[in-house]
Amino acid sequence: MKIQRYDYASQFELFQEFMAELSAMIQSGHYVLSHEVAQFEADFARYLECSFVSAVNTGTDAIICALKVLDVRPGDEVITQANTFNATVAAICLAGARPVLVDVDENSFLMDTKEALTRVNSKTRVFLPVHLYGKPTPMQELMAACEKRGLHLVEDAAQAHGARVEGQRVGTFGVLGCFSFHPSKNLAAAGDGGAICTARADLKKRLDAIRALGQVGQNNHIYVGYNTKLDSIQAKVLSWKLPMLDKWNEQRREVARMYRERLSDLPLSFQAWDDKKKEEHAFHLFAVRTDRRDQLLEHLQSNGVDAVIRYPVPIHLQPAFSDFGWKKGQFPVSEALACELLCLPMRPNLKESEIDYTCASVASFFKGNVGIAKARNL
Ligand SMILES: Cc1ncc(COP(=O)(O)O)c(C=O)c1O
Repeated sequence: MKIQRYDYASQFELFQEFMAELSAMIQSGHYVLSHEVAQFEADFARYLECSFVSAVNTGTDAIICALKVLDVRPGDEVITQANTFNATVAAICLAGARPVLVDVDENSFLMDTKEALTRVNSKTRVFLPVHLYGKPTPMQELMAACEKRGLHLVEDAAQAHGARVEGQRVGTFGVLGCFSFHPSKNLAAAGDGGAICTARADLKKRLDAIRALGQVGQNNHIYVGYNTKLDSIQAKVLSWKLPMLDKWNEQRREVARMYRERLSDLPLSFQAWDDKKKEEHAFHLFAVRTDRRDQLLEHLQSNGVDAVIRYPVPIHLQPAFSDFGWKKGQFPVSEALACELLCLPMRPNLKESEIDYTCASVASFFKGNVGIAKARNL
């Protein structure tokens, strides 16, 4: 039996008219910044309840462009967390700034905001928290600090489309919010894609120029920009999928509830989540924590469960960033999580029988069973 981690193609089965529309679009001959892109930007802005969206090629580009429109320069510092995906920190470096890492909270796996505040100095320009695995980072303290000290808050919401705190979508707390539409994401293109949202008309104007080689009006290039525009086919895919996002996120939360219920007696811990609180976790990933992680992974894989480690090497120990002089032991919670977290299959259409099978496999590992309970028919 195989429990797949992803099932990208199944989402398209819902859209019978989609291929006809796509074919009409291709016949039309308008592929770059066509009205499909403007339409998706308007759709996503409405969904986020945010004034503006600029769509770009990837989530990494979204972060680079966000830092560039804030005029981040060499020597400026951007504070982010040590347990994020490489792209967050690569984007800071590619924008020309210096990443400053902080450790994360033991229970939420999110930026330790108290530690982040201690790292502010005269070079700090931006806080860049990551809503990791789909869980919203607490924003109030960071927002207050930004207001008081004239800093910018930019959110990496690449894993948290649609997540909410007290009814407000993540990405809309900071001056800019960055999203990825990589096929693995909660809102997924049929390829790469990204976007930045903002409430500020001046930043939207600059973002639109910076993603298109700095051009404002035909042949008038006022910035040194990038060439990173979401393509029209992906915009169309995303507009088709967007109305389903809240339902898919609720299905993800239901999968998470079932996992937690079935695994609660085992020696595992989970990312903190109070289902009753006013937090809507988007459950991009569902992680379990155990000090026997590597053996559990091997056991699950041998039982056909497509579990995965996100992320086995924290940022400060990645060769790409060795120039920054970070040392082993410097961010102990991030290091522990890198050794102890394992992500179980998580997608909206995971069946109860697949969850049962996965949980039975996890239980058989801890209970020392040789085989596992035979799952019901899938
Ligand atoms: C936390 C985080 N930030 C940024 C990115 C970058 O997105 P993309 O892969 O679209 O460049 C990702 C994507 O995996 C991510 O998980």
